Amino acid sequence: MSTSNNRVAIIGAGTIGLSFAALHLTKNPRSNVSIFDTRPNLEQYIESKLPGYLVDVDQADCLSRLRIVQDLAEAVKDASIVQEQGPENADFKRSIWPKIEQHAPEAALFWSSTSGIVASEQSKDMQDKSRLVVVHPYNPPHIMPLLEVVPSSVTSQEVVDRTLEYWRGLGRVPVVIRKECTGFVANRLAFALLREACSLVAQGVVSVEDLDSVVQASMGPRWTVAGPFKSYHAGGGEGGLESFMQKIGGTVQECWDASDNDVKQGGIEVGRTWQDDVFRQTEKAYGVIDTAERDRKTKAVLQAVSK
Ligand SMILES: NC(=O)c1ccc[n+]([C@@H]2O[C@H](COP(=O)([O-])OP(=O)(O)OC[C@H]3O[C@@H](n4cnc5c(N)ncnc54)[C@H](O)[C@@H]3O)[C@@H](O)[C@H]2O)c1
Ligand SMILES: *[C@@H]1O[C@H](CO)[C@@H](O)[C@H](O)[C@H]1NC(C)=O
Repeated sequence: MSTSNNRVAIIGAGTIGLSFAALHLTKNPRSNVSIFDTRPNLEQYIESKLPGYLVDVDQADCLSRLRIVQDLAEAVKDASIVQEQGPENADFKRSIWPKIEQHAPEAALFWSSTSGIVASEQSKDMQDKSRLVVVHPYNPPHIMPLLEVVPSSVTSQEVVDRTLEYWRGLGRVPVVIRKECTGFVANRLAFALLREACSLVAQGVVSVEDLDSVVQASMGPRWTVAGPFKSYHAGGGEGGLESFMQKIGGTVQECWDASDNDVKQGGIEVGRTWQDDVFRQTEKAYGVIDTAERDRKTKAVLQAVSK
C-alpha cells in the first residue's frame, strides 16, 4: 500500500462515516483519520459509538490516530483521501466538493459514499470533475468487504486505479461499476429480491418469518460461496449455465412472468396498502434487532469462506 494514502478525512460521521473511520483505523494501521461532522456533541457521540466498532484490535492505538476537527478546511488540508458520507441530498453533495477541492492537497482522492447521487451530478460545480468517484459501501463497511466504485464518464482512470489499489491493499473487494445507473448493482439485486419477498408475503404464500428462513437456509449460505451465475453454471452440470437454461429455462420464464404479473396485480409499490401487514408481521417477529449479533455472525461467516 502506498504511504501517500494514509491520511483520511471523513466528512459526515453518521452510520456509514463512523464505520468507515473504524475500517481505516483497524485495517490500515499506519492511517491517521480526521473526522468532520456538523452534529452537536460530536465528540461525545464518537466516544460512545466508535469503540463498539473497534473489536479485536488495539483500541488505544486506533484512537490515538483519530482527530476530531471543527472545520472542513482543517479536516481535509493534509488529507490523501477525502471520504464524504453526509446527508443523501444532491444540493449538499454538489456544494461541498468545490470547498473540499479548494482546501485539500492536489493529489488527494475524493470519494463519495452516496447510495444514488452519481458523481457526474455531484461534481457539477467542481473545477476538476475528473477527481471525484463514488465508492458505495454495503452497510456496515467495517464488516462488509464490497465497495462499488462508480466513476462518472470524466473520472480519471488514475483516480479509479488508486482507489482500487487502496481497497485491495486493505483486503476489501472493490468492484468497478461501468455505467452510472440507479442504485448501482448491489441494491438493484437486493431490492429486486425484496420486492419479490414483499409480493409473496402480500399474496399470503408465505409468512415474513418463513420467507426469511427460506433465504437463510438456501440462497444465503450459497451466495457467500458462489454468486448467481457461478451457482447456476454449476447447477447446469457439464453444459453449465447454457444447459441449465435449456433444462430449466421454461420454469425460469414462468417465474419471471408470474413475478411481473403478481407485482402489477398486487399493487406492490412503496407506500401502498400491502405494506401494513408486512410491517406488522416483521415487527411482531423481530422487534428491535441486535445488530451486534448480526455483525458477529457475519464476520464469522466471512472468515469461514475466506479459507
Ligand atoms: N445507511 C446505509 O445503509 C448506507 C449505505 C450505503 C451508503 N449510504 C450513504 O452514506 C451517506 C450517509 O448515510 P448515513 O446512513 O450514514 O446517514 P447519517 O444520517 O447516519 O449520517 C450523516 C451524517 O452527516 C452529518 N452531516 C450533516 N450535515 C453535514 C455537513 N454539512 N457537513 C458534515 N457533516 C454533516 C450528520 O450530522 C450525520 O452524522 C448517504 O449519502 C447515504 O446514501 C448509506
Ligand atoms: C499521523 O499522525 C502522527 C501524529 O500527528 C504523525 O507523527 C504521523 O506522521 C502521521 N502519519 C501520517 C501517515 O501522516
